[in-house]
Amino acid sequence: MNNSTILVTGGAGYIGSHTCIELLNANYTVLVIDNLDNSSEESLKRVEKITGKAVSFIKGDVRDKALMDRIFSENTIAATIHFAGLKAVGESCAMPLEYYDNNVNSTLVLCQAMEKANSKNLVFSSSATVYGDPEILPLTEDMPLSATNPYGRSKLIIEEMLRDLPESDKLKNSTNPWSVALLRYFNPVGAHESGTIGEDPSDIPNNLMPFITQTAVGRRKELSIFGSDYDTVDGTGVRDYIHVVDLARGHLKAVQKLLSKDSINGVQAYNLGTGNGISVLQMVKAFAEVNRVDVPYKLVDRRPGDVAACYADATRAKEELDWEAVMSLEDMVKDSWNWQSQNPEGY
Ligand code: NAD
Ligand code: WQD
Repeated sequence: MNNSTILVTGGAGYIGSHTCIELLNANYTVLVIDNLDNSSEESLKRVEKITGKAVSFIKGDVRDKALMDRIFSENTIAATIHFAGLKAVGESCAMPLEYYDNNVNSTLVLCQAMEKANSKNLVFSSSATVYGDPEILPLTEDMPLSATNPYGRSKLIIEEMLRDLPESDKLKNSTNPWSVALLRYFNPVGAHESGTIGEDPSDIPNNLMPFITQTAVGRRKELSIFGSDYDTVDGTGVRDYIHVVDLARGHLKAVQKLLSKDSINGVQAYNLGTGNGISVLQMVKAFAEVNRVDVPYKLVDRRPGDVAACYADATRAKEELDWEAVMSLEDMVKDSWNWQSQNPEGY
């Protein structure tokens, strides 16, 4: 039994809400801060229904320094998972300053509050985007990092910023040094098996899976498949899709590691992926066959900035966090559809 409190920033969002379930099921007390810019409080009500446990919710912005100080002074936070941020690549090119403010500045304010409260266990939502256009696959954590857009650059800057913290601990001979897990997600898809929570983009989806589900449910006429002349199995882009419940369990494992005797000494990065590359056409076919539903599509030009293929080597997460993805492609397409068909308009 444990009832340590975990602060979850952005906990009302897609990955955050699924992670709250895993934390509650493992008997952690969960405190969420979210400004609801890209989510609805309804997701947390459904998390409470699924788990039969309460979530404490603060509607607020992580960039609000006074609020963050108050949260850390009023609660004993064992660890923080920092999901809050903006995540649309195209939008980040049009409004880079908003992205640096929301992503970098929120992390800065959060870490200042954590340091002040001497609460220095952090799990950070990074992304496979920090590998840029990969030359060698599968990707291991020590491969070269680069950014191809402001969103990716914001994640890289944050990773670099977090790496400076343990160095400062050494200079200060800190007795409670920072322990930070950088979780680099590949392509999250799927939803909780209940079908009551899932991904609910507020605009036209940028990502493949919500576009497929919204097409299947009749909200979009057809899927455009971006590029059919890549050097891949069938010419379409290849990605490492990971079920969001597997991903959520990765966060639970990271928190458990941070709170264990064998904690992370400083900063460590972990790839969270399955290691399997799936093409767009393979995904569309699996979705249509498993769910017996039509997904009209057309082949169009490549999307600027896309890479041909990207998939993980997740060995380090297995060895150090005792985590690996266990859910199948069938689970991914079945659960994505279960959520969308039960909630055609989202929350
Ligand atoms: P999401 O938009 O569903 O969740 C993010 C949540 O943070 C939202 O509920 C939003 O309202 C909240 N938020 C944003 N800015 C905030 C702020 N300043 N203060 C308080 N709350 C704020 O996105 P998600 O897919 O759950 O992603 C979570 C994290 O994982 C993000 O940091 C994202 O960059 C990262 N990530 C996502 C993916 C993906 O494909 N979904 C892949 C790699 C990394
Ligand atoms: C997957 C594949 C597309 C939509 C992005 C971010 C990355 C990370 C995850 C946050 C590609 C193809 C897509 C469509 C299509 N996010 N596609 N038609 O681009 O791998 O990664 O989300 O960190 O940073 O860049 O994901 O889902 O957009 O695309 O053919 O309508 O599906 O070309 O091959 P991506 P995606």
